[in-house]
Amino acid sequence: MFAARSLSGGKPEQYAQLAEQARGLLAGERDRIANAANLSALVYHGLPDLNWVGFYLFDGRELVVGPFQGLPACVRIPLDKGVCGAAASSRQTQRVDDVHAFPGHIACDSASRSELVVPLYDGETLVGVFDLDSPIPARFDADDQRGIEAIAQAFLASLA
Ligand code: SME
Repeated sequence: MFAARSLSGGKPEQYAQLAEQARGLLAGERDRIANAANLSALVYHGLPDLNWVGFYLFDGRELVVGPFQGLPACVRIPLDKGVCGAAASSRQTQRVDDVHAFPGHIACDSASRSELVVPLYDGETLVGVFDLDSPIPARFDADDQRGIEAIAQAFLASLA
């Protein structure tokens, strides 16, 4: 049984603890659906002020919704659409303080105000994106970006 330990200290310390819990969850398992599902649950329940956490996985043509926590979401996102498409096609994490100001943002949950999307690449191969939404404007700062990028890295490493 997984027992969630509450996170303590400043944000970097909290993310270090979350990454350790993530590595524990992923240890010895390579299945991408299983690992994406458990990471979505870990992050959604471990961090405050989130309304959606999950994965979109690349099917060779577009991003297709994968394991997540939150309300039902848009199923397919072309690489030239939305914050998720921008992360995948630019290979850069997208940290959006105000989703309404982002051209082409795709509103899946109308409660979302800010968003953090980390692209997932295995070398040159696009695997998908890891997407976090918050109902609070500018919810994500540089510490969140670094922390979530580390968890995304742990996901990619688990598939190897
Ligand atoms: N807002 C995203 C779509 C996915 S949902 O947030 C779950 C986007 O613009 O790509």
